[in-house]
Amino acid sequence: MISRRDLFISGAALAAAGGQARAAGSKNIIISSANGLRATARAMEMLKKGDDTLDAVIAGVNINEEDPEDNSVGYGGLPNEEGVVELDASVMHGPTRRCGSVASIRGCKTPSKIAKLVMEQTDHIMLVGEGAGRFARECGFPSENLLTEKSRLAWMVWKQSLRDKNGHSNWGPGLDAPPAKTTASNELKKIFPHADEETLAWALEVALHPPTGTINCLALNAKGEMSGVTTTSGLSWKIPGRVGDSPIIGAGLYVDQEVGGAGSTGRGEENIRVAGAHTIVENMRHGMSPKEACLDALKRVARNFDNDRERLSKIDLNFYALRRDGEYAGAALWNRAQSPAADGSRRKPRFAVNDGGESRLENSVWLLER
Ligand code: GLY
Repeated sequence: MISRRDLFISGAALAAAGGQARAAGSKNIIISSANGLRATARAMEMLKKGDDTLDAVIAGVNINEEDPEDNSVGYGGLPNEEGVVELDASVMHGPTRRCGSVASIRGCKTPSKIAKLVMEQTDHIMLVGEGAGRFARECGFPSENLLTEKSRLAWMVWKQSLRDKNGHSNWGPGLDAPPAKTTASNELKKIFPHADEETLAWALEVALHPPTGTINCLALNAKGEMSGVTTTSGLSWKIPGRVGDSPIIGAGLYVDQEVGGAGSTGRGEENIRVAGAHTIVENMRHGMSPKEACLDALKRVARNFDNDRERLSKIDLNFYALRRDGEYAGAALWNRAQSPAADGSRRKPRFAVNDGGESRLENSVWLLER
């Protein structure tokens, strides 16, 4: 049995080893990935009303999950290779130290809500695939088609981009068709006559550079309570059943309100290999600032590739960290993303912040430049 004295000694040992107990911040702060301007604003409204930090961040990301124009999260997310949208999400509640997650769930626009129900209504932490979907139905969430016309179009364009070694595609014009004399985008225009130029250009782009998108949102309230959520449609065109980092507690999300919280967006496989969110929180526990903690986790990703810039250039990965005293940071592997943002741009990496006023974007730091 652990006595009170043992607990005291281990606390003292932690302090001697560099563990730092920081005073909790005294104001509400929400941070999020760059697609979270609306999410952070809604979450802040809720914190101001005294709502729970987890309810606030979930309500925030529900905006993205329900938005058909956010193609990396929830409804309208880009599908798997069979054209089916599969979603991943996790939640972590600092005050109770509880967590829940769902992976590869189909037919439900708001997997973050289901992750919270797994946390609250079951003795489990993670439900996946068919079981997660059945659980959602049992909790009263109807099965819905999550594939929007825009995402279906992008999926079709991706299928048409696939070639065998002779350059042939079953989804292109037949071998008996006259040779194409037009550009790829004009060919697409013939197949999707109702799609505008912008949508076709975007579809070509995401077919060539499958995005991982995602939204992570972390909250700290004036009482020092913290929670977080990460939700995503994952890597587009993935093999059915592929699970990224977002629903993995310790990779896509980790919160210990004695220290802080962290989350990620981008290439989940590389984050899982460094248990990114947990690594960042532990780095902060041992005295690193949020910025240093995130950059250290990114260095571990680079080390896994022997710092080979060529191979690393294929990866986009972003971390977000919020410490218990209110200090925060966003950090990216590269100064410019390989995959375009939802608006098609490849701006310098940024993240969303709301500390009580208007939500704003702040610059992330980065590890590598291209
Ligand atoms: N970070 C989202 C994913 O890789 O699925």
